[in-house]
Amino acid sequence: MNRNFKLFTNIAILLLLLAGCSSNEGKSTELDKQQTKEQPIAVQGAMDVEVSEFLKAMGDYKEEKHGNFSFYIGEIEGIPVVVSQTEVGMVNAAASTTLLIEKYNPKVVINQGTAGGHDPDIHVFDTVIATEVINIGSFRSDRVEDGQGMKPENWIHMATELKDKNGETQNYSSLPSDPELVEAAKNVADKYKHGQVVEGVIGSGDWWNREIDRINWFHENFGTSGEEMEAFAVAQVTHLLDVPFLSLRTISNSEVTDDNIEDLEKAGHYGAEFTIEVVKEIAK
Ligand code: 5AD
Repeated sequence: MNRNFKLFTNIAILLLLLAGCSSNEGKSTELDKQQTKEQPIAVQGAMDVEVSEFLKAMGDYKEEKHGNFSFYIGEIEGIPVVVSQTEVGMVNAAASTTLLIEKYNPKVVINQGTAGGHDPDIHVFDTVIATEVINIGSFRSDRVEDGQGMKPENWIHMATELKDKNGETQNYSSLPSDPELVEAAKNVADKYKHGQVVEGVIGSGDWWNREIDRINWFHENFGTSGEEMEAFAVAQVTHLLDVPFLSLRTISNSEVTDDNIEDLEKAGHYGAEFTIEVVKEIAK
């Protein structure tokens, strides 16, 4: 009786151990699968006209929402992509980029879309591969007395302070696109048929500026090719979270050429078409 009971408990313990092992095995395979899953390439656009071309190219996709931000998960020609609609402006761009990286672990983030031209040699529908992006909303002024007016031409650009991995603060007057991603974009420049593709500097801030003197001031003092409202915020977050970043912008309007066109829809589509070529080049 006693021996039978002992045998029974031993078998029970063995069975329990086996069950434990096999359920652990199940878990680790699932974890392995997640870890070995190919990281997607992330492409961002603020407005519908800047993301719709990607949705068309994906055909089948899944939409996920985090807060009020939309993310579209699918493939373009077999390449895993996540399309992130950032909405307009710097804070939206920063918040949605943080979610994008936390939820989807992308291998690169491409911020792309429309921009206003700052360079008289860059025309509407030309595309800028930004080697660097600059925060054109970050300034301090000296004291100017009551009634003495506003003196934007005297504003002093404020560098952005970011902590590095060792906790040391570094100052950045601009942030770069990843040089390898810039090269990938340059490699497919000849595929773009709606204008020229140039390297340049993109300025970001929460404003839409039509003052020609101010546009010229930015262009002459900061070398800006164009302005928009998201790229620097994305560059800041990707820099802090250590994800390679690329900024691409297609000019949709310009006060400093005689193009007389303001067409965000066409520029949005043309830019996204080019970005798809860049995605394919990166995935090669
Ligand atoms: N100034 C600022 N933002 C612009 N955009 C296009 N042209 C301009 C411009 N001249 C983009 C911004 C924003 C939306 C309003 O369009 O990045 O997402």
